[in-house]
This record gives sequence, structure tokens and C-alpha cells, in this order.
Amino acid sequence: MIRKFFSIAVAFTFVTTLVFSQVKVVDPKVENANNPLGVDVAKPRFSWRLESGKRNTMQTAYEVKVAKDVASLASDKKLFWTSGKVNSDQSLYIDYTGPALESGQKYFWQVRVWDNTGKASPWTGASMWQMGLLKPADWKAKWITPSYEEDSVMRPSPYLRKTFQTTKKVQSATAYVSALGLYEAFINGKRVGDAYLTPGWTNYAKRVQYQQYDVTNLLTQGNNAIGAALGSGWYRGYIAFSNQKNFYGKDVALLFQLQVNYDDGSSDLIVSDETWKSSTGEILASEIYHGETIDHQKTKGGWNTAGFDDSGWSGVRVKSEGYDKLVATYNEPIRKHETFKPIKVIKTPAGELVMDFGQNLVGWVQMKITGKAGDKVTLYHAEVLDKKGNFYTENLRPAKQQNIYILKGGGEETFEPHFTFQGFRYIKIEGYPGEPKAENFTAIALYSDMKLTGNFTCSNPLINQLQKNIQWGQRGNFLDVPTDCPQRDERLGWTGDAQAFARTASYNFDVKNFFSKWLKDVANEQVDGNVPFVVPNVLRWGPNLAGGSAGWADAATIIPWNMYLAYGDKRVLEDQYESMKGWVGWIERTSKNDLWNTGFHFGDWLFYRPFDDNDGRSAVTDKYLIAQCFWAHSTQLVINAAKVLGKNDDVQKYSAMLQRIKDAFNKEYVTSTGRLVSSTQTAYVLALNFDMLPEAQRKQAADRLVENVKSYGNHLSTGFLGTPYLCHVLSRFGHDDVAFALLEQETYPSWLYPVKMGATTIWERWDGIKPDSTFQTPGMNSFNHYAYGAIGDWMYRVVAGIDTEESAPGYKSMVIRPHIGGKLTHAAAEYETKYGVVRSAWKIADGKLTFDVEIPANTKAVVYVPTSKQSSLRESQKELNASKDFKVRGVEGNYTVVEVGSGRFQFAGDL
Ligand code: BGC
Repeated sequence: MIRKFFSIAVAFTFVTTLVFSQVKVVDPKVENANNPLGVDVAKPRFSWRLESGKRNTMQTAYEVKVAKDVASLASDKKLFWTSGKVNSDQSLYIDYTGPALESGQKYFWQVRVWDNTGKASPWTGASMWQMGLLKPADWKAKWITPSYEEDSVMRPSPYLRKTFQTTKKVQSATAYVSALGLYEAFINGKRVGDAYLTPGWTNYAKRVQYQQYDVTNLLTQGNNAIGAALGSGWYRGYIAFSNQKNFYGKDVALLFQLQVNYDDGSSDLIVSDETWKSSTGEILASEIYHGETIDHQKTKGGWNTAGFDDSGWSGVRVKSEGYDKLVATYNEPIRKHETFKPIKVIKTPAGELVMDFGQNLVGWVQMKITGKAGDKVTLYHAEVLDKKGNFYTENLRPAKQQNIYILKGGGEETFEPHFTFQGFRYIKIEGYPGEPKAENFTAIALYSDMKLTGNFTCSNPLINQLQKNIQWGQRGNFLDVPTDCPQRDERLGWTGDAQAFARTASYNFDVKNFFSKWLKDVANEQVDGNVPFVVPNVLRWGPNLAGGSAGWADAATIIPWNMYLAYGDKRVLEDQYESMKGWVGWIERTSKNDLWNTGFHFGDWLFYRPFDDNDGRSAVTDKYLIAQCFWAHSTQLVINAAKVLGKNDDVQKYSAMLQRIKDAFNKEYVTSTGRLVSSTQTAYVLALNFDMLPEAQRKQAADRLVENVKSYGNHLSTGFLGTPYLCHVLSRFGHDDVAFALLEQETYPSWLYPVKMGATTIWERWDGIKPDSTFQTPGMNSFNHYAYGAIGDWMYRVVAGIDTEESAPGYKSMVIRPHIGGKLTHAAAEYETKYGVVRSAWKIADGKLTFDVEIPANTKAVVYVPTSKQSSLRESQKELNASKDFKVRGVEGNYTVVEVGSGRFQFAGDL
């Protein structure tokens, strides 16, 4: 029996309503960033969130105003642009439609809204954004590279410097900085900004990102100095395996432009040019894969300050590079995040001195040390120890991942690298003078500064660890581009891995700008529509593009669509539309008789295959069957995008194509009784998930999938391509029991097997470490590979049940439909959508269900309460209808369906 529908919290909401009845606008953003610098979008968009203590709050109108300074904004005089009062419930991505915006100009803005009771919010405080340099001609700086002859083996980091004077009082100063290679810049000895591995990774031949910094506080009136150190980075370091360097060029270079505005209205431009000086310093070598060597004996103290004597330094050479490929940084830069102290200091059986940080992470270790001049310490990095407990680096392949530090002596010294990163949980220390103490070592995680937006918890601690591992897999592999792994000599933007994980990624962190940037890289690297295996494309595999693999290249369609669903921003579809069509067009041209059955494909990468397989248990799925499914899926996504963008001709054209693709599939790969030619989980999963089969055959295909899973004793056998959809398909066809059995499975192959083996990240292989603690194939055995973490999407979207309506993407209209199953007694997810936080939590105890949902202001949801007990329902309907806050739609299967607005919704009653 239902006892109560709305418990204390609702009453509480009612009370708070009286206090905060006025709607409030928070988190004002321009291009999805707070107070961004370096906006080079001609018409930036404004977004904000509503906060209200009141239930069912919707926005009915908004007003945005923009001025060039705060005073004008406050006085409402000399406004640069105002939207006026616009009747609309849109609170995300409102176009700026005023006069053309100027290069480098700061704009200040405010917004207020009206809610559905007609009340206006207060204006937000003044926010700002600053435009980037919009035209190549705005760049007055020159690309400079040192003029001394470089040691071409070690390639030590160049140090570049320039002094200048400011005689007047500085009002504001903005630095625009980029490099071919990596840079770290300083003004008067202080670091410019807190971003690392800048300018980030793009195809530097076509797109080079620059960063923009407010450096007002770094300047002094009088003598000033700019210093910059450069590293080889992705530009010319070893990349895409250990035998390829200088992929983009041979010489690193700096581009630095400093705009100084004085109080008296005048300004100065200090730029990189022939007048700069260059030399080498303490960074003797640095490589992304191999690590960094720093010698403090070579440190040129004060090199980046004004008083330094640079008379012995060389000049610089101007490099003829253009400015037309410069783009402002759109995604969040890489920054420092969590830090870890060793949880254990280990003397291994082989006699090595090892420290365990307890978490497989990506970044580096900072070391404090006291010793004598010339002491040399080497830090090696590894993800795992071997069966005997020794330090294990074979899976790194040739990537050395080692930092070498040489001491100056005479007191405590601190070392940390600049132009490299390592994937590790353990370090091995060699050459440390005396006994190293744990307190002197700090592991620092570095990754793109995406905001954490989601969490999932439940009653099974192993699944909670899995969730943590998924998030750490994301942290470790989102460093300006989404990579396969962060440790061996690869670390590449593998498209297949990224598409498999993208939707999960969007729950865990705000990846909107991260993927917007990378999708531009994808489009940039397409050749005749074909999409490379990795983006940026650094693979040289013969005369043809290393690309065109089903399930990899489809990143070009799958990710834009997923980002559109997650964030509700049409622009990603507008921007990527040609790229999406380009890819589908390439397949069409490659196909024959509507079959895509040519070319190289990775297939269902890393699917289950037992050793010495006499039984034929290997889950091999025909690669062309897979290709046909992805072709259909990509075509469907182009149709979806065309509908959103109102391109009706394309809708028709691609719909006809889709029908032909599916017909050809059914002729070629499906028997007359509905059996697929590949009897694997992945084959059934793809055919079902992408609606390849006629309606009438789907149920029995799902039954076959279930049979297959059961024949493996409730184990999955899927690789990269089948795994993301496996549980979704099972749930969709009513087989939650099997989906939960897979999630809760603890033996190999399963998601929880690595967790039981002590994993703190997602492994590349289901059995990276075998039950007897030996390793899988060392050449392909990463312990930080996010692809299989794609199960996270099912945990958020199905177990907790938080999903968006496709017709109102970005969670403007939601479906909250939890699935109760397996041995779980509770599950909860929290997800910060662009409208605010959504929560869904269910719990069962003694046959009773409690279900707690929270919906942010300016959104609504259809909530599926997981009980259809008629007795419960009758009372619940009465209570719900009486409350007027909700509308009961009725019963669907095992659910009572209720329409709710913003606020909290609670249910307690019989299951
Ligand atoms: C990478 C993968 C990638 C694959 C292509 C590997 O070396 O690590 O994750 O998708 O190659 O099959």
C-alpha cells in the first residue's frame, strides 16, 4: 500500500518557496565558458541557468545587455547591444545579434529573466568575455625560433627572452601566445596562466591554437621581461610509435603578442620578433613518450626577469609561418588537478625502490630532494607490478616514460617536468641520495579542465569502483584530444575509442567544448570524406589515407549526434554537417550494390577469444556485417541531423539510401528465419541497436542474443564495437535480468573482473591481467583505455534512468525511467545538465520502494515510477492529481507514468 507520496522534502520545498520565491539567474556563460578570453566566434552565444525554490519554474522571457565597460552596463547608457525583452523559454545558446565585435575587445554583459508567474529575476552581476584576434592581420608578432645551432640529438628546450619598458600606468594587458611545439611563458619571472602542454594538439599544418591571458598583474611600471621555454611536444617529438619524429616540422617556434593598454588611453604592442634573444637552459631533453631530463646545474637563474644579463645569448630567426591557421582555444586547456601521495614505499623482489600512488593516473610526479651537485635521479613510471611484485614496463613498448633530474646541490630542490606526461600508478626511483621519503613525492594529475558533471552510485561497491575507474579513464585520456591510452608509444586520437565512449564521457564531465574542438580536427583531417583512424592524423600507412574503418570513422557522425543530445546545441550539427555527410558519401562511393564490403576494418576490436579454441567459442563477427550496420547508423544520424537543420531534401535522399542499406543487409547477412550469419553478441547487438532487422524479426533476434549470453555463462564476448550497446539492447527488448547479470558478473570477461583484480582505471583488454596474475600480450596491454568504460552510459541512462527526450535535447525535456534489477538494492545518479542538476535515486527495502527525483528549473520530465501495483496506483493517482503539481499519464508496463516540472518529486510505496 502506498503510505505517502510526498514526504518532508516537498513540504520543505514549499517553505523555502516563501523565502526565495524570486527566480535567480546563475552561471552566465559565453560559448559554454565563464568569462572566457579568446572568443573567435563571430556571433557568440549566451547561456545561463535558473534557480528557484519554487516548483514548476519555467522561463518565459529574457533580456540580455552588453556594453564595452562595466560603468556603461550599470548605467544602461551607451549600451553596445541589448536583446530587449524576448519572450522565450530558451536559456542556452542565445545568439548575440548586435554590431560586429572587435578583435581583442572586452565586452561586459548581464541577463535577467521572467518566470512563469510573470516575475523578473534580478540582473546578474556583470560578466565578461574578450574577443580573440579575429583576422590574420591582427597578428603583429612573428614566429621566432632560436638562431644558435641546435644539438640535434638531445634537442634541449630553447629559452627565449625580451625586455621592454613601460613608463605609464598599465590599465590592462593581454597576452596572445602560441607555439609550434609546446610553450611555457613568463612575465617578470611569473608564469603566464596555469595551463599546461599548450598550445595543445591539432594538425599544426592547418590549425594552430593560441591562448589568451590577462597579464595585467604581471607587469610592472618600468623594466619588464618576457621569457618563454619551448618543448618538442607533438609537433616534432616522437609521435605515433617510436620511430617517427618531426611529423609537423623540424624547428620549434614561439608566437607572442602582448597588448598593453595604459591609463591615459594609449597602448603598446610588444611582439616576438628579431629583437628577441635565445639560449638553452635546464631542460636538456623532453619528449612526450620518453620523458624529460632537467639539470639544475644548467639553470640560468632569473632568465625570465628584467635584470638578467643576456649578453651571451644568441639571437633568433624569424620563421615564415602564416597567421591564417591560428585559432583561439575553444576547449578547456590542460590544467593540474588531483594530487596523490604515495600510499606505499616498496622494495620489490628484484631490489627496486618503488612508490605506489594508489591510482593509475596521467600527469607527472613532483620530487623534492636535497643532495650534492651532479647527483642524478631517475624516475621510471609504470601502471602495474608483475606477478612477483616487480616493476613492469614491457607494456609501455618503447615509450621510456622516464624523468631524469640532475641536482645543483646546496639545499632543497624541487623537480617536475614541463613538456611531457606519464601514465602511471607506480614510480621506480634510481640514484636517490639516501633514503627517499614518501612525503617528498607528489603525483599530479593533468587533464583538460572539464567540469565534473556526473556521478553514479549503487549498492554494489564493485560497481562503484567501476564508476570511479571509468572517470579516471576519462581524466587520463582527455588531454586536449581524446586518446586511446596515455602511456605506451601511442597516445593517439583513435576515433573508434572516442565514439564508443563519447556519450558516457558527456555524463561524467562537461565535454561540450572538448569535443567541439576535436570534431573540427576530425573534419579537418577528412580526405574526400574519408575519416582517418586517428585525429590528429599522424599515421603514415602507404599512399592512401589510414582511415575508413567501420566503427572508427563513424566518430564523425556518432559524436556530433551524441553531443547534440547531451547539450542541446544545434551548432555542433551545423558545424559538422558537411563532415557527417562527407563520411557517409565516402562509404556510398566505396560500396557496391548497396553493400559496404571492401576495405580494411578493425572489426569488433579485442572481442573475446579463448586460447587454443577447439570449441569455436571465439566471438568473431564478420567485419563487413559490422560495416553495413555502421553505415546504416551513420546514415540514420545524417537523417536525424538533416531533420534538426530543416534540410528536407537530404532527409528524403538519405532515408532512401538507408532503406537500400538495410535491404542489402537483410539479403546478405540474415537467413530467412532471422538468423545472422555471425552468431555473436556483437552481430545481434548491432543489428538490433541500429534497427537493421524488420520489426517482426527483432524479438527473436533479441532472444538469440540472450541465448548467446547464457551460453557463455552470463559473460559478454563483445569488443570495442558491440560493448557500448550490449546492455542497452538487452534492456530495450525486456531482458534487464541478463543486462544486470552482465554488469554484476565478476569473472572474466566482464566489467567487474578487472575491478576484482585491483584495477583503478579501465583496461584495454578484458583480461589485461589474467586470473593467475600473468599478463596478456605485452605489446597491446594498456591499463588505461576508456573504451570499455562505455557501460557508464547504461548505468546513468538506464539503471538510474536519466535521459533526454530527443525532441528537446540537452535535457530540456527529460525521461526519468530507472530500471530496477539484478541484486542492486539502490542506485542513484546525479547529473549536471546545462539547465542544472538532475537527480534520480531509487532504493528498495522490505518490498518497499523509495524513489527520489529532482528536476532543474526551466525543464520538465516524464517520470516513470517503477511500480504498477494497481493498489499503489489508485492511491497515488488520487494524491498526485490532488496535488495539481503533477499529472499522471497512466500505467505503462511496470511503471506509473507522471509528468513533472522542476523541483523535487518523491515516491514511497509498494514496489
Ligand atoms: C589502440 C586502440 C585502437 C586500435 C585500432 C590500438 O593500438 O590502442 O585503442 O582503437 O589500435 O584498432
